[in-house]
Amino acid sequence: MAKPLRVGMIGYGFMGKAHSNAYQKVGRFFPELEHRPVLAALCARNQEKAQAFADTWGYESVETDWRALIARDDIDLIDIGTPNNTHAEIAIAAAEAGKWVACEKPLAMNVEEAERMTAAVEKAGVPNFVWFNYRRVPAISLARQVVEEGRIGKPFHYRATYLQDWTIAEDVPQGGATLWRLDVDAAGSGVTGDLLAHSIDTALWLNGPITSVVASTETFVKERVHQETGQVQPVGIDDACMFLARFANGSMGTFESTRYARGRKNFNTLELNGADGSLAFDLEDPQYLDFYEYTRTDTGSKVEDHLAGWRRVHVTNFEHPYMDHWWVPGCTIGYEHTFINALADFLKGVETGSPAEPGFRAALETQRVCDAVLQSAREGRWVETGLG
Ligand SMILES: NC(=O)c1ccc[n+]([C@@H]2O[C@H](COP(=O)([O-])OP(=O)(O)OC[C@H]3O[C@@H](n4cnc5c(N)ncnc54)[C@H](O)[C@@H]3O)[C@@H](O)[C@H]2O)c1
Repeated sequence: MAKPLRVGMIGYGFMGKAHSNAYQKVGRFFPELEHRPVLAALCARNQEKAQAFADTWGYESVETDWRALIARDDIDLIDIGTPNNTHAEIAIAAAEAGKWVACEKPLAMNVEEAERMTAAVEKAGVPNFVWFNYRRVPAISLARQVVEEGRIGKPFHYRATYLQDWTIAEDVPQGGATLWRLDVDAAGSGVTGDLLAHSIDTALWLNGPITSVVASTETFVKERVHQETGQVQPVGIDDACMFLARFANGSMGTFESTRYARGRKNFNTLELNGADGSLAFDLEDPQYLDFYEYTRTDTGSKVEDHLAGWRRVHVTNFEHPYMDHWWVPGCTIGYEHTFINALADFLKGVETGSPAEPGFRAALETQRVCDAVLQSAREGRWVETGLG
């Protein structure tokens, strides 16, 4: 008998939609799960817009104050799909009320907040999860499997890019309902927390702890009109960030992110080079994992033979991560499915007693790297992350 899991979703924006879709679909594609999410309440400040979203997605009720949502006895899980500056207060209150907490990334505005959030969920002993959904792209999960199988050998290089182009125009305002990402008070940082947090989470997962970083950031447009006040105000976020990283396993990393790469929309790539092989992934072509195998697995030979070369794996077969829950081999899944896969893992983790990652504690590690990157850019020197 399925157990209802009554969800209180906060925010009806981009992630409100992605998560609502996941709650609706997870039980259909992962029927083995014991929990069945119920869209119990949608919370956002604007009653009319919240009601319209709730009607479209089938939420039973609407709240306009997240505190009222958390106070309800009929809500089991609080899902935080709101701007970054709201995460800490909501997550801590939800944990103290004994709710499960699923929070969007970046976990927090800074390490201090992330530590308090982690302490709160751990003290309350409540299930917790952070929506670093790219781990659940089947090709990225397969990359992790290949690393665990030892087929990359000793890693030397990790290379990540996350490029967009939507803030190039100087007349894009900052702040307000739609452009909070450009307002440092709402976002905490620019591309570092928004985009590189994803790249860092994936890197920590695939290649282990990052021990130190040296970074440079740039804010190309120095002042923008604030959407709410109408005032021209200094821009406090990083428009672009590049950093070098040292990993505990001895490998080196380069990370680059910007919202000024004309033509790049959501260009999220990674490459890992080891002694025995390399892996490469590009989110704009997400069903493929590229793999170069130096060591022949049939003979164990360490010699590059005449057929050595990159191979492009179409990650849609039943034996590939998650794909036995979707369509027949050759049929692809997309962006929204990463949230469904992530939710399935979160629920399964609670049901089996082996919590899915990243929980708050793992996301705190990503936050430590983000903060070290920003500190390094400010101070112009290598900074230890405290990991590893
Ligand atoms: N995992 C991912 O790939 C991914 C992608 C996009 C955004 N995000 C993260 O998700 C979060 C939300 O981003 P988004 O793109 O959905 O933003 P959005 O601007 O599209 O939506 C934000 C929502 O939060 C609501 N909101 C804001 N303040 C609120 C408050 N005090 N109480 C209740 N509701 C409030 C807004 O009304 C809106 O519905 C951010 O932390 C962001 O970094 C993650």
